[in-house]
Amino acid sequence: MIIAIDGPSGAGKSTLGKMLAKRLNLLYLDTGAMYRGVGLAVLESGTSIEDEEEIIEIAENAEIELIGEPDSLQVLLNGRDVSTEIRTNEVGQIASIVSTIPEVRKVLVEHQRNLGENAPEGCVLDGRDIGTVIFPNADAKFFLTAKPEARARRRFEEDLDKGRATTYEQTLAEINLRDERDISRADSPLMIAEDAVVIDTSELNLREVFEQMMRVLRERQSDERTRMARLH
Ligand code: DC
Repeated sequence: MIIAIDGPSGAGKSTLGKMLAKRLNLLYLDTGAMYRGVGLAVLESGTSIEDEEEIIEIAENAEIELIGEPDSLQVLLNGRDVSTEIRTNEVGQIASIVSTIPEVRKVLVEHQRNLGENAPEGCVLDGRDIGTVIFPNADAKFFLTAKPEARARRRFEEDLDKGRATTYEQTLAEINLRDERDISRADSPLMIAEDAVVIDTSELNLREVFEQMMRVLRERQSDERTRMARLH
């Protein structure tokens, strides 16, 4: 079973993706963490963000692994645990810039497809292009969204909890900048797949969104059972 969760940053994709993966015993793949891994490798190498050739080479040579349970997912870059370093706003912006380069996407898309296809029970993937590009035939597709102000508020509170120095206004400006780049890039822009279930999480808490998603999945399973019964 493949579950695709797409949407802009801060809509709750990764938290809900982890919750679903845990409940359904599926692999959880945070595809944004992979773009962040490449972003961090670019940052640490001192490469200019304008130097596409060098960035492509970094993406081709970076070994990015996601290991552990959804709750304690570790991101390894060339064997080093970078789970914390990749979460800064700076790395998020660089990830968003490198993700506009088609050759970088090609490397990561292939890796993500392989991981998803080889997951024994199936996989929950969250990102921007899961339902449109990586798994257009996913069993269920969700597009989680929320007003920029709600997403910025959540991100800002997370940052405060983690002791990162920032302001709400700065977080909102960064979210708007990243949205704009993710929506307007030529290759695999963030968009709603035709058959995705769209959930606006602005006014909902996590539990409510989770229940809505589980309801959709149960309906899908029961439709599938009816279809199979008709075939026999
Ligand atoms: O989900 P995130 O905020 O950690 O993702 C960081 C950036 O990576 C995001 O701004 C765009 C890019 N990305 C992408 O282009 N495609 C994906 N499937 C996931 C992330």
